[in-house]
Amino acid sequence: EEIYRDGVSGRRPRVPTAPAERERRGRRAMSRAADAYVSGGAGAEATMRADRAAFGRYEIVPRVLRGSVERDLSVDLFGRRLPSPLLLAPIGALDLVRRDADLAVARGAAAAGVPMIVSNQAGSPLEAIAAAGGAAPRWFQLYWSTSDDLVDSFLRRAEGSGCDAVVVTLDTTMLGWRPRDLDRGHLPFSRGLGIAQYTSDPVFLRLAADRASAPRSGPAPRITPRAVRTLLEISRHHPGGLLDNLTSPLPRAAVETFLDVYSRPHLSWSDLASLRGRTRLPIVLKGVLHPDDARRALDAGVDGPLVSTHGGRQVDGAVGSLDALPGVVDAVAGRVPVLLDSGVRTGADAALALALGATAVCLGRPWVWGLALAGAGGVEQVVRDVLAELDLTVGLAGARTPAEVEVRARR
Ligand code: FNR
Repeated sequence: EEIYRDGVSGRRPRVPTAPAERERRGRRAMSRAADAYVSGGAGAEATMRADRAAFGRYEIVPRVLRGSVERDLSVDLFGRRLPSPLLLAPIGALDLVRRDADLAVARGAAAAGVPMIVSNQAGSPLEAIAAAGGAAPRWFQLYWSTSDDLVDSFLRRAEGSGCDAVVVTLDTTMLGWRPRDLDRGHLPFSRGLGIAQYTSDPVFLRLAADRASAPRSGPAPRITPRAVRTLLEISRHHPGGLLDNLTSPLPRAAVETFLDVYSRPHLSWSDLASLRGRTRLPIVLKGVLHPDDARRALDAGVDGPLVSTHGGRQVDGAVGSLDALPGVVDAVAGRVPVLLDSGVRTGADAALALALGATAVCLGRPWVWGLALAGAGGVEQVVRDVLAELDLTVGLAGARTPAEVEVRARR
């Protein structure tokens, strides 16, 4: 209503409401490097297109005269009643888009009443992001480190910062083949962005210091902290070459430590079983696309799959996220919530995913465009727009809740 009223009174929003225009203007508001990083996908970006095309394969069949004036978008997720079935997907290294981006995102999410999933590769420490979000709900996204101590430390920090769940991202044990980033020299990592969760972690710093104090031969020139941050990120993607040029013990040790710990490519189902015993937080698995994996996740005591292609940034040619949803929903058979992201651009998209059985959806790139255009207020506005359209879609489809919306495969 508020959005309508503003429109009728001639007030124009700071972030365009039309999805294509929002994207166009948002992309223009960023540096070319940031745009390449945010907009880019894996390979020839077929999965990115598949994510969008999937939404065109389903259609809502509205019902009339049902008196469904009162809508209820609220949802129970892991013991908390949320006003709407929307969360902000975790997005890392956003300081490339705007300084202190994650603090702005936390404020925008809080103002719009949706939980932020804080990325393991956020630009500010989790504790600072939690403080910016205040009483608003938040979740933590974990990239599974090779260091069990570091994983435990991240889990303790998530619990201590009031996170309601931990989202373990499984589709990025190695970074996907992303030509737009490769052609620009792996920005934003070459600018030292996206490692604040690590450099603010006592376990990580201890690992780096231990390594630095180990005997080593060769000279040790001074390297500035800024350069250390930068080198950490560059080195993550270019093992070997850069390391050979670093000779100061501590930065070099930090680089080596980060390279060692940031991801565990040989992760298996037995590791997952061990994780269950190490946190009291609900565990969501991000990147589940196969029904059998969803079943195994349930057997391992996981609290919910998040169906995702990582925004088409990992496996080019992979199934579109919404196309994978019905299989996962079937496999789970109502035992746990199912979440979805990748390709959600509008409230009508969200309605389709929810009608097809998702419990909640995560919004990704659209709020980044809002962030680029108007900071915290831009994030808030994009979320409010998506929720307003979702609410209208549900009501106009003759339903009271998104799950009641009638949907079928397009013929
Ligand atoms: C991501 N995504 C992501 N996921 C994650 O678990 N941790 C992360 O740090 C990031 N970082 C990240 C950066 C950027 C620039 C993008 C676009 C995406 C994936 C993200 O959580 C989500 O799966 C996708 O954004 C969904 O696709 P759409 O809807 O944004 O296209």
